Amino acid sequence: MHKNRAILLTTALLAGLIGQAGAADPAVERGRYLVAVGGCNDCHTPGFAQHGEAVPEADRLVGGVVGFSGPWGVSYPANLRLQASASAEAEWMRRARAGGRPPMPWSALQAMTDEDLRAVYRYLRQLGPAGVAAPTAIAPGEPIPTPHFVFVPQPPTTTKLSAAR
Ligand code: HEC
Repeated sequence: MHKNRAILLTTALLAGLIGQAGAADPAVERGRYLVAVGGCNDCHTPGFAQHGEAVPEADRLVGGVVGFSGPWGVSYPANLRLQASASAEAEWMRRARAGGRPPMPWSALQAMTDEDLRAVYRYLRQLGPAGVAAPTAIAPGEPIPTPHFVFVPQPPTTTKLSAAR
């Protein structure tokens, strides 16, 4: 009897330890760090540009509906959590390496080692799926049914904006 209880206790302790090890997965921590220094939240997290670190991690990287319009048409910051949750690791790596439309800094992802990219993937998987998919990209010249930023260089101005109002 005593022996059985000892075994149960040991099993419970081990399960606890393994659970803790999972929470502190170094790849997940590395991914969290790379996303922070890579500025990924600036585009992929709604409100991050305005509120920064005040946006809870649980609400981050869910993509957005405000498009980026330029010669490439219109691109939308993808919901990285849904995309990672729906992709196997190898498929996600291929997508990250393939590149796509601006202003996504594709070169930043492409400059990462496989190990670092995998860490970003692991972090996204750990955050889990949330939110809805971003709108599909729009080809150049097509109507744009969402709010969007226009990437068009403007001429210099000579008056203060406040005075011009
Ligand atoms: C300046 C805004 C911006 C920043 C900063 C940014 N992204 Fe993106 N990202 C986008 C846009 C816009 C797209 C959609 C591109 C397209 O349509 O080809 C995108 C697409 C992606 C995709 C493809 C998703 C899919 O569903 O195909 C991945 C993966 C991704 N970004 C990861 C990152 C990571 C990781 C970082 C930080 C290192 C980052 N992004 C930083 C704007 C940004």
